[in-house]
Amino acid sequence: MLYSLYTRRLRRQLVGLPKPDHVAIVMDGNRRWARGAGYDDVRIGHRFGAKHLEAFLQWSADAGVTCVTAWVASADNMRKRDSAEIDYLMELTESVLADHVRRDHRWRLHIAGQLDLLPDSTARALKEAVEVSRDRDAGDLTLAIGYSGRLEVLDAVRSVLDDAAAEGRSLAEVADGLTEEEIGRHLYVPGLPDPDLVIRTSGELRMSDFLLWQTTRSDIEFCDLYWPAFREVDLLRALRTYGHRRLERSS
Ligand code: IPE
Ligand code: MG
Repeated sequence: MLYSLYTRRLRRQLVGLPKPDHVAIVMDGNRRWARGAGYDDVRIGHRFGAKHLEAFLQWSADAGVTCVTAWVASADNMRKRDSAEIDYLMELTESVLADHVRRDHRWRLHIAGQLDLLPDSTARALKEAVEVSRDRDAGDLTLAIGYSGRLEVLDAVRSVLDDAAAEGRSLAEVADGLTEEEIGRHLYVPGLPDPDLVIRTSGELRMSDFLLWQTTRSDIEFCDLYWPAFREVDLLRALRTYGHRRLERSS
């Protein structure tokens, strides 16, 4: 009751404030949340975390956010975490995240990351969800999985050079004509606006190799809650802070 009153009040406070079109979310703290809630098996945190993204997407849509990027797993996570945990995360990616995209007709799906780090079945499920959602136009959802910001920039430069070689352009010509826009066109998901706002949960104050190229002008909002405990009011508060900051800057 109180919660819904507070939610409505926050929504009213957002009216007339600048709104981010693109919100990127670093969903951190699943394992600490699980341990804090008394579960020995940290996979339960990942399950709640994956289901929680569905709710977050709905709150974002309700708040008029048309583009969401969510960090599911880093390239480092894929290499360094134990295989049972990664297997479970991949299973959730297939059975919860890809499945959600198939059923929720709002989001056109994009994938950012190195698909060859993923098990075949996960890569296939994601590619199928990308295909199924290709013609939607209400919102863009990017799942960053097997993702590293530095590797994305490296891959983009490599791809610029590959194209140039295929077109028979010399290295001197490429170097001479290289622009930010050209690198931008070779990122994993070209054509999206840069994130206006990045939210990271769990109190960690780092970017950790997320969206290196795209976040040079983004606002960043750190939130102490663990990801599965992040609520709609926390999103609305982040949007309010964002709105006020942007207003101040524009005046
Ligand atoms: C975020 O939660 C999910 C992934 C990075 C896969 P963590 O698994 O990082 O949980 P904490 O941060 O250790 O609590
Ligand atoms: Mg973490």
